[in-house]
Amino acid sequence: MIQNIPPLFSLFAGMGLFLILLLGFRLLSFEMERKTEPLIQDDEVGKIELVLLNSFDEAKDVRSFVFAKANGKNFSPFKAGQFVSFQIGNDPRTLRSYSISSSPESPRSLQVSVKALPGGIGSNWMHSLKPGDKVRAFSPSGLFVDEEHPNSPKVYVAGGIGITPFVSMLLGRATGRDMADVALFYGMRTSKDMAFHDLLVFLSKRMPNFKYFPILSDPDSEWAGDRGFVTLPYINSKISFLPDHRFFFCGPPIMTDTIIASLNTLGIREDRIHTEKFVSPVTFDRSTLQSRKLNLTWNGTEVAYDGTETILEGLEKANISHPFACRVGVCGSCKCKVKGKFSMITDAGLTPEEKKSGLCLACVAFPEEDLEIQVT
Ligand SMILES: Cc1cc2nc3c(=O)[nH]c(=O)nc-3n(C[C@H](O)[C@H](O)[C@H](O)COP(=O)(O)OP(=O)(O)OC[C@H]3O[C@@H](n4cnc5c(N)ncnc54)[C@H](O)[C@@H]3O)c2cc1C
Ligand code: FES
Repeated sequence: MIQNIPPLFSLFAGMGLFLILLLGFRLLSFEMERKTEPLIQDDEVGKIELVLLNSFDEAKDVRSFVFAKANGKNFSPFKAGQFVSFQIGNDPRTLRSYSISSSPESPRSLQVSVKALPGGIGSNWMHSLKPGDKVRAFSPSGLFVDEEHPNSPKVYVAGGIGITPFVSMLLGRATGRDMADVALFYGMRTSKDMAFHDLLVFLSKRMPNFKYFPILSDPDSEWAGDRGFVTLPYINSKISFLPDHRFFFCGPPIMTDTIIASLNTLGIREDRIHTEKFVSPVTFDRSTLQSRKLNLTWNGTEVAYDGTETILEGLEKANISHPFACRVGVCGSCKCKVKGKFSMITDAGLTPEEKKSGLCLACVAFPEEDLEIQVT
C-alpha cells in the first residue's frame, strides 16, 4: 500500500497539471473569441455580420455562397423563399438582395446563389468573395413564402436564376411539413445554365408529390428533354390545375407576365398568384420624373425636398435616418404612414392588409405633393 503512494501521487499531480493546462487553453480561447468579436453587434441597426464558409459553382456564371453568423450564433428562424440583403463593399446604402437557396431547417448557415451579370456591381462583388471574408447583411426577410398554405397544391414557375427561392422551398418540403402536390416548371436557355438540376431530379425521385419539368429554349446537343418556353399551354400539357392551386412565379417578366395575364383571364384569383421580382436599384427608370420643390415632414421634423429622389433618399439628403434594408421595395423595413399624394414603383414589400391601409415604402416612393411622414 505504502509502495503505491508515489505512483498515485504522480497520477494526481499529472491530472492536476492537465486540468490547469485545460483551464489555461479555455481562458486563452475566450480571450481570442473576445478579440475576434464581430465589428457590429448582432442585429444592431438590423444588420448582422456574416462570414463566408464556402463557395462553389452551380452553373455557368452562377455560384453558391454559404455563410454563417460571424458570432457563431444560429440564424433566427427564416422562411423558405425569403432573401438576405447584403451590403456591397463599404457603402451602407449599396445593397443587393439574394434569395436563400438552402433549407430553412439548417439554422447554423445559409446559402445564396448569385448569377454574375456583365458590369453588375453586386453580383461580381459577391463572386470575388473568398472563404473567411466577412460581410454585412440584413436578417432574412420577404413575403414570397409558401408555408402559410401547406394544404394547397402548388405550381412553381422559375426562369433562370429565379430558381433560388424554390430550391429552399423544396428542401423545406423534404422535411414533410407540406404534403400537398407541387409541380416545378423551370425554364433555362441551355444545359450549362441549369443550376440545381441534379438536386431537383434527386428530390423529384424521392418526393412522390413533387413533379419537376425542366425546359430549355436554346439549341443544345446535350439535352434530350423538353424544348421551348414555359407557357400556360406547356403547364397545362403536364398537369391539370384546380381552382385551389396556388401559383408562385420568379423569373424574367417576359416569361412570368404572360402566364399571369392568362391566369387572370381564366379567373384565377389574384390572391392565389405570388410573384418575386429580382430587381436591382440601378434598373429603376427615373427618366420621366420631373424635379420638384416640396416639403416633407418626418415624425414632426420639416425637410425641404428638391429633386427627383425617392422619399428615402430625400430624407437621407437632409440627414434623417429612416430605416431601410433592401432599397428595392421588397423587405418592408422602410414602410411608413404618409399624409399626402405619392407614387410607388412597387408595393411588393407590403402585406395585403398593409396595401389596403395605404402604407408607403419610402425606398421606392416619390412625393407628388407636400407630405407628412410617420414611421410605423
Ligand atoms: C428579393 C430579391 C431576390 C433576389 N435573389 C437573387 C438571387 O437569388 N440570385 C441572383 O443572382 N440575383 C438575385 N436578385 C437580384 C440581385 O439583387 C441583383 O439585382 C443582381 O445580382 C444584379 O445586381 P448587380 O449589382 O450585379 O447589377 P447592377 O449593377 O445592379 O446592374 C443590374 C443590371 O443592369 C445593368 N446596368 C447597370 N447599369 C445600367 C445602366 N445605367 N443602364 C442599363 N443597364 C445597366 C447591369 O449590366 C446589370 O446587367 C434578387 C433581387 C431581389 C429584389
Ligand atoms: S428598404 Fe426594403 S422595402 Fe424599402
